[in-house]
Amino acid sequence: MVASDSEFASRAGLEILRQGGNAFDAAAAVSFALAVTRPQSTGIGGGGFLIAWKPAGEEIVVSDFRESAPAASTPLMYAQAVKRHPGTPTPSRYGALAVAVPGIVAGRAEMLHSHGTMSLAEVLAPAIRLARDGFPVDQHYIDACVSALEIYDQYPSLIESCNYVYRTHIRSGILRKQGEDLVQPELAHLLETLAANGASVFYKGPIAEALVRANNRHGGILSKGDFADYRVRNDRPPVVFSYRHHTVIAMPPPSSGGICLAETLNILESFDLPKIHADKPALARHYFVEAMKHAFADRARWLGDPDFAPIPVGLLTAKGYGQQLAFDIDADHCSDPETYGAVQIPDDAGTSHFCIVDQWGNCVVSTETVNTEFGSLFAVDEWGLILNNEMDDFAAEAGVANIYGLVQSKRNGVEAGKRPLSSMSPTIVLKDGKPVLLLGGSGGPRIISSVLNVLLNVVDFGMPLQDAMTTPRIHHQWQPDQVFFDKAPPSNWTIGLTARGHKLSEQCKTGIIQAILIQNGELTGASDPRKGGRPAGD
Ligand code: DON
Repeated sequence: MVASDSEFASRAGLEILRQGGNAFDAAAAVSFALAVTRPQSTGIGGGGFLIAWKPAGEEIVVSDFRESAPAASTPLMYAQAVKRHPGTPTPSRYGALAVAVPGIVAGRAEMLHSHGTMSLAEVLAPAIRLARDGFPVDQHYIDACVSALEIYDQYPSLIESCNYVYRTHIRSGILRKQGEDLVQPELAHLLETLAANGASVFYKGPIAEALVRANNRHGGILSKGDFADYRVRNDRPPVVFSYRHHTVIAMPPPSSGGICLAETLNILESFDLPKIHADKPALARHYFVEAMKHAFADRARWLGDPDFAPIPVGLLTAKGYGQQLAFDIDADHCSDPETYGAVQIPDDAGTSHFCIVDQWGNCVVSTETVNTEFGSLFAVDEWGLILNNEMDDFAAEAGVANIYGLVQSKRNGVEAGKRPLSSMSPTIVLKDGKPVLLLGGSGGPRIISSVLNVLLNVVDFGMPLQDAMTTPRIHHQWQPDQVFFDKAPPSNWTIGLTARGHKLSEQCKTGIIQAILIQNGELTGASDPRKGGRPAGD
């Protein structure tokens, strides 16, 4: 079973499973297929995380192939760029300076080598076919082209500096109808080159060379050394914690996902949530929002790349800390923003997920991204390679919120070789030591709340998976101090939350979740209906 946000990528994974490949082989195939069918969300110019659970020895695998900042990065580079060129596109977000060193090719190749059974060429085959022969685009792709066009309209200079994305996707994409084929010959050639030469060609060969040349020509600071030095990190200890008779395995820093999930759920464990949900649904949402505010306040204060500053993972994920915070939550009122988290004020102030279970019970969850739609918009034309804008996940300018409205501290400031803090949360939930729920998603900080919403809906409220995915979702990220829903919630929730002092946003937004439920030996896959993905399984 494969659940991804692209039907074609799910089928690519299933094709590999049917050939006898395992979940790691299928993960590589799904990821490369996503690079073709979801160029607005992810691709080999991006990075990501993976968590796996192997029944053999009950081994947990963690892989961090997040992008890292170029060696020439400095803490003030974006503030200086803005000062030098006022009125130009936000430099951490669009164009050559927004690009961090991509990790997906190295990440997938390394997992394949360590845990897979097939060759890189074999798992690339479905993606190459999709790029060469084309695939029918869906509404999500067309909508992404329309919103990217607004950026080109606002900053016409991007048409020259980021021309490949404009020419290949945006200009024609806005005119496409759902179901029309998109063919990407340059990308097909790149994937064929990887299949023929191995992953190293991306980091040490002609692809890296072309990328650095194009990047430098347009004001970027990537160097050949950045590519030669890039390393996948497979040594991060997972965040593992219990929640009401379940064990949750989640992503450690440089993702904030695992710590935020643990802190929120540790707080919520102090309340009889299933009963409160049944008797007083608004109060259940109030507790949820208050717990998320604590977790996001601590995210802003404490989290960043653990290689650059020690992170108090033990403290933030401790049951006692969650219980203390829960004890202080007032059932009738929310509190001032300053009172959330251990330390109250920050000292300074396009993604794709998939889940796979194979015939042997290996479970893989992985989230990857180029950050916002079509990443930095900057690409290497001749290779059809669209680059991420993951540098915007740093606190690029002190005190300035990033594109997701996240206010963050110096711990997540720009530094050479550092990985930006992420919200991507590939997660596996175990019961009695065996996986029962695989999930994760896209949507910036809303990934964390969406994973929490679906997890609670399944574990605490006993909903069938499909209902757990479609029920209105609730999000709070501490700053801005607003509760967000993805669609109109029942009026008793809004009345109960407003009465407790919460400010409700008019904006409707949420993450996009992919999940697989394992119950009595049966697999149920579900793709969030909000993006048009579809699971595939036998
Ligand atoms: O790593 C992160 O947290 C962000 N770069 C994720 C971006 C994202 O999910 C965009 N979503 N659709």
